[in-house]
Amino acid sequence: MILDGKALAKKIKEDLREKIQASGKEVCLAVILVGEDPASCIYVRNKTNDCREVGIKSLEYKLPETTTQQELMELIDKLNNDSSVNGILVQFPLPKGLDEAAVVRAISPEKDVDGFSKINIGGVLMNDSDCFVSCTPAGALELIKASGINICGKRAVVVGRSNNVGKPMALLLLNEGATVTVCHSKTEDLASVTKEADILVCAVGKAHMITADMVKDGAVVIDIGISRIDSKQVGDVDFDAVSEKAFAITPNPGGTGPMTRAMLMFNTVKAAGLL
Ligand code: GUN
Repeated sequence: MILDGKALAKKIKEDLREKIQASGKEVCLAVILVGEDPASCIYVRNKTNDCREVGIKSLEYKLPETTTQQELMELIDKLNNDSSVNGILVQFPLPKGLDEAAVVRAISPEKDVDGFSKINIGGVLMNDSDCFVSCTPAGALELIKASGINICGKRAVVVGRSNNVGKPMALLLLNEGATVTVCHSKTEDLASVTKEADILVCAVGKAHMITADMVKDGAVVIDIGISRIDSKQVGDVDFDAVSEKAFAITPNPGGTGPMTRAMLMFNTVKAAGLL
């Protein structure tokens, strides 16, 4: 089974659009892009397109590469205090010299629709339904559920331990009742661990590092990593070979990427009090 993230994201966005229309409320997301990193420019454009589709007002702030930390903090402060703004997203990575951790600390947790703040990560840890879940793992979990697998009691392996993806992904699966192992660059004999996984989530960013011999027959495989081979986007998973063994697998592109953006829309509508 191919887990079509594009199709599922479309459905989620349609549902959100209906919720907003029914409420008669205006929902607003502020998106801040500093500098002109080409990938970040595309991501931000996609996010503002999603806002338009869903009926969310987007405020785009395109700041020059020379922006100082103080200027960025002043803008965040202004948006924190603007009651017409429901969510604030600062696109990462920031240009050299700007402090991303300080930006995450500055955004009000109630407007942190990325789910990057300590409060929201802590909320995931405590299985608190009030918090904003980091969008990429939230979208990956929806794709796992879309496979129809019963997560509770299954062995889940997450490859990657980043604060925004790997760690919250492991917590979400644990909250669902999975037995979770987190692997990373220091893991010895990675294949011996991944082979045990009923649910395998890869979030590393190393092209095709997960080969068919590392995957259990009938596994659900979620490929979050993004890298490029000859400027073409590929994932962490060797899709052609692994799809022969997996029960369900995400394509890459077209799997977790669209779902990340759908969950950003979900979090923004939730920030507006509509969910
Ligand atoms: N850069 C790459 N992915 C993301 C994301 O999900 N949120 C933000 N703010 N920046 C990113």
